[in-house]
Amino acid sequence: MGDHVMRAKGVLTNALVIHTDILVKKADRIYLEDIHGKRYMDFTSGLATTNIGHNHPAVVGAIRKQAEALIHSGCIFYYEPLLLLAEKMREVTPPGLDMFFFANSGAEAVEGALKLARFSTGRQGIVAFTGGFHGRTFGSMSLTTSSMRYRKSYQPFVPSVYHSPFPYCFRCFFGQRPATCGMDCYTHLERLFKHLIPPDEVACIVIEPVLGEGGYVAPPKEFLKKLRELCNRWNILLILDEVQAGMGRTGRWFASEHFGVVPDIMTVAKGIASGMPLSAIVSTKEIMEKWPKGAHGTTFGGNPVSCAAAIATIEVIQKEGLLENAQRMGEHAMKRLRGIQQRFPSLGDVRGLGLMIGIEFVGDGDQPDTEGLRKVMDFCLERCLILLECGVDKNIIRFCPPLSVKSEELDAGLDILESALKAVCGGG
Ligand SMILES: Cc1ncc(COP(=O)(O)O)c(C=O)c1O
Repeated sequence: MGDHVMRAKGVLTNALVIHTDILVKKADRIYLEDIHGKRYMDFTSGLATTNIGHNHPAVVGAIRKQAEALIHSGCIFYYEPLLLLAEKMREVTPPGLDMFFFANSGAEAVEGALKLARFSTGRQGIVAFTGGFHGRTFGSMSLTTSSMRYRKSYQPFVPSVYHSPFPYCFRCFFGQRPATCGMDCYTHLERLFKHLIPPDEVACIVIEPVLGEGGYVAPPKEFLKKLRELCNRWNILLILDEVQAGMGRTGRWFASEHFGVVPDIMTVAKGIASGMPLSAIVSTKEIMEKWPKGAHGTTFGGNPVSCAAAIATIEVIQKEGLLENAQRMGEHAMKRLRGIQQRFPSLGDVRGLGLMIGIEFVGDGDQPDTEGLRKVMDFCLERCLILLECGVDKNIIRFCPPLSVKSEELDAGLDILESALKAVCGGG
């Protein structure tokens, strides 16, 4: 049966990358089961999305119940899950960020956030960071620079978008080391305002509080604080793209909490509804109220079933103490990984917040080791551990098991990773 179905792969466009050849039949929390009954551990959380695990019974129940009652509104009428979700989100979003526009995907949320910023400021300029990923629609893609493969042959992009290097300390754009760092990445921004666009023509600065696709990199705390100050000084809106880092991934509801920075606009998706299509643009009443009726809209966005799944997801994170678990498991993973790093020089850098950990593979002179990581991931996959890479050179593991991962599951995964390192990289 499987072979027959897999033959249909040929009619899916090549552009769509499916990372493994596993034909999955069902899923349960961290486990996936293929059509032959083989079980895998999913340390990718379906691209950092099934934060409370696959098919949590509370989410499945909420979806079933809502699907039986009402599937679609198309903005023709109100429905309870939409209003209840807005209320629920207010419990967890940063102070003052308490108005919502619900959409379907991360890219759509970014698109909408850019429109809101331009509309509410009356300015055009958008500043983003080299290395960032914000989606693949034209607006969001114009900001995306995590790899040329997302931009190649799509010129021209949305005008008035400017880039400045993301503070990726292990591979500093300015060749600095933490000991000598003078925050050139910040001064570069100020220089951009002197040479390319005056700050009073900039609508927004958009940044991922932790770089996702670009390599699982958290910026120095000081950098985000300075960015906030810069935005305040010039009345520029600070947009934090929390699509990947938000909804508990870093052990806090939103990664911004680690930095003590509150954005003006925030984008949320992935983990919000455990895999159901849903995203949100979140902002203050003051900014949102500048958007008049009809200035933005959607047919499917915030559909009843996705909203019901999101409410259930948030409740599970609260009831099961999953933020605390993510912190504990994140510390445990980080400690073990740093220990492993001591024994395997192939691990150039291990970094992260909560359960958003980047493990960077290097060769001689810290050159990115794409091949080494590929072999390690293949070894792990043969032993039923699914990992996912990131970074422009695809030499970084994006370590993102569900927030609900148990310590024995985490250790089982790390044991496999360690044996892969022994087999592929030698030493240990
Ligand atoms: C930070 C960030 N923003 C936006 C997006 C785009 O989200 P989507 O794929 O749902 O359009 C992603 C997806 O990986 C992301 O990581």
